[in-house]
Amino acid sequence: MGHDRHPLSPRLDHCPETLPAQAYFDQDWFRREQLTLWARNWVWAGRLNDLAPGTMQRRQIGVASVILCRTPEGEVSAFHNVCRHRGAELCSVDQQSMGKLVTCKYHAFAYAATDGRLVATGQAQPTADFDKRAHGLTKVSIMVWNGFVVLNLLPDPGPLRPDTGLGALDNWPMDSLVTGHRAVNEVAGNWKILWENYNECLHCATIHPELSDLVPIYKQGVMAQNEEPGWTPEADLRPAMKPGAASWTLSGKPCGPEFPGLTQAERAAGYLFVTLYPTAFIVAHVDYVRAVVFEPLGPERTRVTVEWYFAQETLDQPGFDAAEVAAFAKLVLAQDAEVVELNQRGLRSPAYTRGRLMPEEYAIRDFDAWVLQEMEDYK
Ligand code: FES
Ligand SMILES: [Fe+2]
Repeated sequence: MGHDRHPLSPRLDHCPETLPAQAYFDQDWFRREQLTLWARNWVWAGRLNDLAPGTMQRRQIGVASVILCRTPEGEVSAFHNVCRHRGAELCSVDQQSMGKLVTCKYHAFAYAATDGRLVATGQAQPTADFDKRAHGLTKVSIMVWNGFVVLNLLPDPGPLRPDTGLGALDNWPMDSLVTGHRAVNEVAGNWKILWENYNECLHCATIHPELSDLVPIYKQGVMAQNEEPGWTPEADLRPAMKPGAASWTLSGKPCGPEFPGLTQAERAAGYLFVTLYPTAFIVAHVDYVRAVVFEPLGPERTRVTVEWYFAQETLDQPGFDAAEVAAFAKLVLAQDAEVVELNQRGLRSPAYTRGRLMPEEYAIRDFDAWVLQEMEDYK
């Protein structure tokens, strides 16, 4: 029998090795990740209701530039950002308006925005050996889940697999929530460090005093009660949030009416994390929801986009300030960004090759194993 670890606790019974240091700065490692896990997993592409009908947006997924289209009728589609004639880029800006067609600027080949089929070849008059049907845009898989658009470079991808399962947010009115605030920052760190930092709370007490005050268990270096030494399944569940607090805001008070469909347990928990490797995590509260998105820009640089979503009636409250609600998570994320950069700088030391994970870092062990598995499967 273990002394302090129940078999059902996620705490590790040993201290495994971390990934090697070069996983966080080596250009070849980075490129391999781009060609494997970023090329085969669903990648966050924003909110459907932030993509106006009649617009096209450019996205980067791993090594691929992609266009995300919403036709004037509201249909969504996505394609590789390259013309099938001689390979010109189709969209050169982050966003532009469009009609029913995606037209290449170079020689005016035009493609239907709904399915990418080639409908016109400008002034060129192809001979009979050119089959228009074989020269449509190359499709990127697209789906909408909880109002989020996600893309996958595989033509026939597997299902979207959030850690909680697909239904975890069913009691939140996800489709109708509106983006009330957005923050975009670049962090001088490898994207995996951001996920590893997300996956442990050993740093919470020192790095996140405000968050640890709001969620008392974080002060103990763990994310949940079942990680505490000595935990047994019979232990009474303690409330996660401090007495009187209901949401992750500076005051702990909800910023508007609570979502009516939540269960008592969801209300009592105060937060629900939904993790979507490698791209984003969503945190659902009783009064608002936010998404945090990681987008690698290079081996040592990551763009972090954070969006806050609210019910329209919350946004419509007199004097409501979404930036004030966002301030709490922004504070926490800024604290995280600082330690991620600290971690990145240290990994370059010739004195460091790899480290060891602690029993509380089981979720990092799982994440690192997932990364290696995804890279290994690449043929
Ligand atoms: S490269 Fe696009 S039309 Fe020629
Ligand atoms: Fe943190």
